[in-house]
Amino acid sequence: MEPVVRTEGLTKIYKTPLEGPGVLALDDLTLEVEPGQVFAMVGPNGSGKTTTLKLLMGLIFPTSGRAWLFGKNPRDVNVKHRIGFLPDGPYFYGHLNGYELLEFYAGLFRLPAAVRQERIPQLIDLVGMTGSARQRIYTYSKGMVQRIGLAQALLNDPELIFLDEPTSGVDPIGSRDIRDLILHLRNQGKTIFLCSHFLAEIEAIIDRVAILDRGRLLRVGKIEDLLIKRDVLEVRARGVNPAGREKLQRVGTLTAEDESIKVEVPDGPAVYETVNIIRDHEGHLDSVSPKRMSLEELFIECVRGPEQGPAPAPRESTEEGEENQS
Ligand SMILES: Nc1ncnc2c1ncn2[C@@H]1O[C@H](COP(=O)(O)OP(=O)(O)OP(=O)(O)O)[C@@H](O)[C@H]1O
Ligand SMILES: [Mg+2]
Repeated sequence: MEPVVRTEGLTKIYKTPLEGPGVLALDDLTLEVEPGQVFAMVGPNGSGKTTTLKLLMGLIFPTSGRAWLFGKNPRDVNVKHRIGFLPDGPYFYGHLNGYELLEFYAGLFRLPAAVRQERIPQLIDLVGMTGSARQRIYTYSKGMVQRIGLAQALLNDPELIFLDEPTSGVDPIGSRDIRDLILHLRNQGKTIFLCSHFLAEIEAIIDRVAILDRGRLLRVGKIEDLLIKRDVLEVRARGVNPAGREKLQRVGTLTAEDESIKVEVPDGPAVYETVNIIRDHEGHLDSVSPKRMSLEELFIECVRGPEQGPAPAPRESTEEGEENQS
């Protein structure tokens, strides 16, 4: 299957007004996005997410490298008809009402009148703006602007939708509506490429994720592959008595909540030892499964490096030990 989005060595250096090296905003990005997926790009402020979207939309030129949408140049007019875009903090002319705004954009897309009359009310309903569509945009809250912006991004029934911080400024119920809408679009076979800082929010709805930092791609892959740590197992149990809990603390990392406990242990003999301690101390084993990190934990680990555990205990020096060899 041909990727919907493909980049090869995509690089952007913004020229600064003063002479100088410029700002390296995106550094050698190579990735592919398959059709029908929700693909998320995450990264700290200034890591190059919006720059990537602008390059993919053909709004700015790369310094080097290339991008393809549907196998074609992003600036190709036939590509433009197939994509929708919600920019970060969209700006719309405030004296129009929501309905008029969508009419205006429908005109730009040259949508036939019959299509407009059907699609605009449908989209207004889809983004939950039926009650406010005749209200002028300058009276809209941030979340309402975001919703009407989403309707605008979907006007031409695009196959590929770019969303830059789609839930920014939107309340929790609104954010959930937007997530449901993203899944609804994916179920219709559309491809969604989004950037977001709300990692806990997007974790459940994305298929693949790319982590950017200072313009560099640190990781990209299927969310399940990246979040599951196969070398660490989580053993869950109930009813383990205090003596057993104390022993478990020496084998792995124990967290307890009332009756239930969770022990994180490296895959290997420690797992059997853990299970035996649970059995021998009145415990009931519930499950043994690979540890699953949250997207936030993965993000922090990638950007900051792995958490430093407690300092290792000093080794006892022995007669033959290397410590004694001076
Ligand atoms: N037009 C521009 N001129 C000069 N530098 C720019 C321009 N646009 C962005 N930059 C710089 O490029 C880098 C990447 O910016 P970008 O907006 O792509 O980051 P981002 O990941 O979208 O950040 P955020 O999470 O804050 O939205 C930053 O250092 C930014 O200052
Ligand atoms: Mg941005």
